Amino acid sequence: MHYLVTGHTGFKGSWMSLMLKLQGHEVSGISLNPLKNSIFEKANLTKIFSHDFRIDIRDAQSLNKAVTKIQPEVIVHLAAQPLVRESYLKPLETFEINMMGTLNVLESSNLAKNLLATLIITTDKVYKNKNKLTGYIETDELGGWDPYSASKAAADLATQSWVKSFGKTPVAIARAGNVIGGGDSANDRIIPDLVRAISKNQKAVIRYPDAIRPWQHVLDCLNGYTSLIEQMIVLGVGGEWNFGPNTNEKHSVAELVEKFTNKCNIKEPIWIRDSTQQPHESNYLLLDSQKARNMLNWQDYLNFDMAVEWTANWATSEEPDLDKMIDQINLFLKLKNTKGI
Ligand SMILES: NC(=O)c1ccc[n+]([C@@H]2O[C@H](COP(=O)([O-])OP(=O)(O)OC[C@H]3O[C@@H](n4cnc5c(N)ncnc54)[C@H](O)[C@@H]3O)[C@@H](O)[C@H]2O)c1
Repeated sequence: MHYLVTGHTGFKGSWMSLMLKLQGHEVSGISLNPLKNSIFEKANLTKIFSHDFRIDIRDAQSLNKAVTKIQPEVIVHLAAQPLVRESYLKPLETFEINMMGTLNVLESSNLAKNLLATLIITTDKVYKNKNKLTGYIETDELGGWDPYSASKAAADLATQSWVKSFGKTPVAIARAGNVIGGGDSANDRIIPDLVRAISKNQKAVIRYPDAIRPWQHVLDCLNGYTSLIEQMIVLGVGGEWNFGPNTNEKHSVAELVEKFTNKCNIKEPIWIRDSTQQPHESNYLLLDSQKARNMLNWQDYLNFDMAVEWTANWATSEEPDLDKMIDQINLFLKLKNTKGI
């Protein structure tokens, strides 16, 4: 199967593309250039792609040309401006990329003659946050306070409208939580901030240590996406799907930081609480993924402890990045096959 992954130079896109490739698929990508020191660059992933286009998804003409050339059978749309704090600095750009960019990708899908499925990635942050203690379900009201969350909710609604109005092949929306894993190099994310602080012998400044988030290992999240795509192709399913950890896994930012520190075998404290005034971020956010568990037979294979352990193992290993990625993907697939789906 030929997959087009938008956002293939990013964190999830790098893991997704390599996992698909190792499972025998052909993969092409459309994104901006990778960040310096990104996993994409360090693992030299460009060589796994049939087409590696560096295009801004706001440029509909160039996007259409690339999709015409690639002729994908499956599109996984990950490309986005995905950071909350950046969205406060660049709100218009965030809306343009996340909402209009998504519509451009959907429009360009009309040019893929053999298309079987399109998966649009939004986020757990699309839900109107009510600090609900039980986890949001797919039919809950959408909202979004900060520009990132609102732009993703807008992308989600725009996709739903596009599907109802123009959809010909199955399109689904995946909403996942905060992923962790090896090789994330984004600014303003907990694990990358910790890794940078450790390497500089400094303390990481943590903004919301008490905030509860649905932490999930990146491979569990991506396995959710691929399980959904399989059912889209076989049964033609579409709609909206949550992929989060078990809702009794309630862990704060501080717990994540402490566990990561322990797993890296670091004895002294490596973080301090940020006491400055911060822009709004929700305090309590959990996802209910019962729909995916029941209807796709999807489950996560790494609990919170294992997810942090795999992330710490990555951070402390001296092995080359591509080898580490391949090892962890193979280990994950073995775990999946042993436990069954
Ligand atoms: N990482 C998380 O915890 C998390 C949680 C929920 C949802 N998501 C969603 O998953 C997706 C991937 O996130 P990530 O963590 O891999 O982000 P990332 O920042 O690592 O990667 C973003 C990718 O999008 C591309 N991109 C950005 N702007 C673009 C543009 N204008 N045109 C073309 N490409 C562009 C980048 O080049 C990069 O390849 C995003 O849609 C994000 O909203 C991520």
